[in-house]
Amino acid sequence: MRAIDITNKKNNNEKLTYEEIEYMVNSYVKDKINDETMSDFVWSIYYNGLSLDETYYLTDVMIKSGETIDLSKINKPVCDKHSTGGVGDKITLIVSPIAASAGVCVPKMSGRGLGLTGGTADKLESIPGYKLKMSKDAFINELQTVGCAVISQSEKIAVADKKIYALRNEIGAVDSIPLIASSIMSKKIASGSDVIIIDLKVGKGAFMKNIKDATKLAKTMVKIGNYYGKKVICTLSDMNAPLGRNIGNALEVKEAIDFFKGKYDKRLYDLSVYISALMISSSKKISFKSAKELVINLLESGHARNKFNTWIKFQGGNLGKLRDKAKTVKVTADINGYVNKIDSLKLSKIVFDLGAGRKKKKDKIDYAVGVVLNKTLGDKVQKGDVLATIYYNKKVDNMEDDLRNCYLIERKKKKIKKIVIKTIK
Ligand code: URA
Repeated sequence: MRAIDITNKKNNNEKLTYEEIEYMVNSYVKDKINDETMSDFVWSIYYNGLSLDETYYLTDVMIKSGETIDLSKINKPVCDKHSTGGVGDKITLIVSPIAASAGVCVPKMSGRGLGLTGGTADKLESIPGYKLKMSKDAFINELQTVGCAVISQSEKIAVADKKIYALRNEIGAVDSIPLIASSIMSKKIASGSDVIIIDLKVGKGAFMKNIKDATKLAKTMVKIGNYYGKKVICTLSDMNAPLGRNIGNALEVKEAIDFFKGKYDKRLYDLSVYISALMISSSKKISFKSAKELVINLLESGHARNKFNTWIKFQGGNLGKLRDKAKTVKVTADINGYVNKIDSLKLSKIVFDLGAGRKKKKDKIDYAVGVVLNKTLGDKVQKGDVLATIYYNKKVDNMEDDLRNCYLIERKKKKIKKIVIKTIK
């Protein structure tokens, strides 16, 4: 077999066999073909697409390139939850303990942020003492005793995906449905859960910009899951505005702490309750309505909050000492009206420039910096009101004006769209 023939075949829009895809992926992992040759292959897929069978072959080859986790020892329903990454997305911190307190086991391997979207691993690292690395046995022990565990993504899972995803990032070939579907599903299937809930973000702050493409990606991932006998459910959620009020690592942990104390931002609450109810209903095979009632009860009774505290403590974290030292500056409104839009993409760039994200894998980040939205979608604003607070350690040029410009304030209040767009099973 020759790489050039396989790439040409795809360039001619012909279907590839399992062996051809396996040859390309394994040769790249073993450094038998270089970045340039693999880039040509990736671009041939980017422009010509893959059939469902070919997407499954790619997923399967990437799963087999690394370790898989065996969670069969756990005698509870096991449910993983994945988010495709959004601005202010701290949902994992909230739904994992909620589902665990309902008796669902939640094993999470979370990545660090690269580019504009923050990673859950970075958020958890803003808690002093929190251990993101542990042995497989310790991970399973925590799942059995606490019910949820969040550790960093293992380097040994879906090894080929890591290398190919890094290359796609470098050459700008990320937004391809078969490439995204196989990349996400290879990691999820290898991680061993029976039920996989995917929170697929749609909108300006996400890589799926419209509902049509997001639906296509969701259907592909559900079908790939079916090849493995896994239940995959994808919820499309709106990312045209940030999720919750706090954006930045320690600030997002603070918002999760406040959430469990009953201080809710509406969109964050709606999505958190929805996703946790989906996790519980599909894992415990109860109706969505009963699962939702259970979630509300677990929040109001304080059970979910206790589970959150137990989980963080179990992994060594001290919530009383967050890495949150920063100066603050308030940004005020210069007109009266209603907040009809908050540009999540622009906002994420500001937070990134403050130092909350990294350009390269090895860059250091500042856990404390970010933005708190004092006014959010639908709020009434008077000239001079505080719109948002910037937490910074190093000033960024024009940061106050740039943040003010993220807000669209208009005389007439617009209807706020529901955060959950639709769910595909
Ligand atoms: N997340 C992934 O894990 N892979 C992609 O290709 C895109 C987002």
